Amino acid sequence: MKPPKAILLKSVSSKNDLPPVSLPEVVLAGRSNVGKSSLINAYLGQNLAGTSKTPGKTRAIHFYLIDDRWFLVDLPGYGYAKVSQQRRKKWGLLIEDFFAAKRSIAAILHIVDLRHEPSPLDLQMAVWLRNRSFPSLVVATKADKVPRGKREKQRRLIAKILGISPQEIILFSSVTGEGRKELTKIIEKKVHQFSSEESLWER
Ligand code: GTP
Ligand code: MG
Repeated sequence: MKPPKAILLKSVSSKNDLPPVSLPEVVLAGRSNVGKSSLINAYLGQNLAGTSKTPGKTRAIHFYLIDDRWFLVDLPGYGYAKVSQQRRKKWGLLIEDFFAAKRSIAAILHIVDLRHEPSPLDLQMAVWLRNRSFPSLVVATKADKVPRGKREKQRRLIAKILGISPQEIILFSSVTGEGRKELTKIIEKKVHQFSSEESLWER
C-alpha cells in the first residue's frame, strides 16, 4: 500500500492555538502508552510521531495533515499515574477544550491494548464518546503480543466490557502492520462520508 502524504502541521498545547475548524479530523484517543503514536507511524509508513516506552510521551495535541484532505489528530493519553495532579489537569482541560470546540470530527479511534482488560478509564471514555454520539470505533493494538489462539477471546472480553459487539473492534499491530488495510478502508470511508455530509449542508 502506498503511504499517504503526511506532514505535522501543528502541535498545540493551549486552546488558543487550536487550528481553525476546516478539514475532517480523525482523532486518536486512548490510555497513555497504549500505542497511539506508534499506530500513527505505522499507518503513515513513516516515523513522524514521537513514541516512547515511558508513558506520557505525547503532551500536546498533534495535527497531521494527510493528503491535503484530512487531519489525523494525536491526543495526549489519559490515565498515566506518574504525572503531577497539575499536569494531568492541564492535559484534561486541553482535551476538553478540543472536544468543546465543535471540531469537524469524522471519526474517533478509541485505542485499547488487546492484551489487557479495558480499565475503568477506558470504559469511561467509551461511554463518554457514545453519549455524545461521536462516530467512534475501537482499535485494539499490540495484537502481535497476543498469540493468535487467544486473540478472539481477548476481542470478546474487550467488547463485553466496553458494551459493543466484537465485530466492532479492529485488531491492529504497529509492529507487523496487521489491521492497517482494514483501518485505512474505514478511515477513508469516514472521511468521505463526513465530506459528503458537509457538502450537503453547503448546498
Ligand atoms: P502517550 O504518548 O504516552 O500517550 O503514548 P502512546 O499511546 O502514543 O504510545 P506509544 O506509541 O508511544 O507506544 C508506547 C510503547 O508501546 C512503545 O514502547 C511502543 O514501541 C510500544 N508499542 C506501540 N504499539 C505497539 C504494537 O503494536 N506492538 C508492540 N509490540 N509494541 C507496541
Ligand atoms: Mg504518543
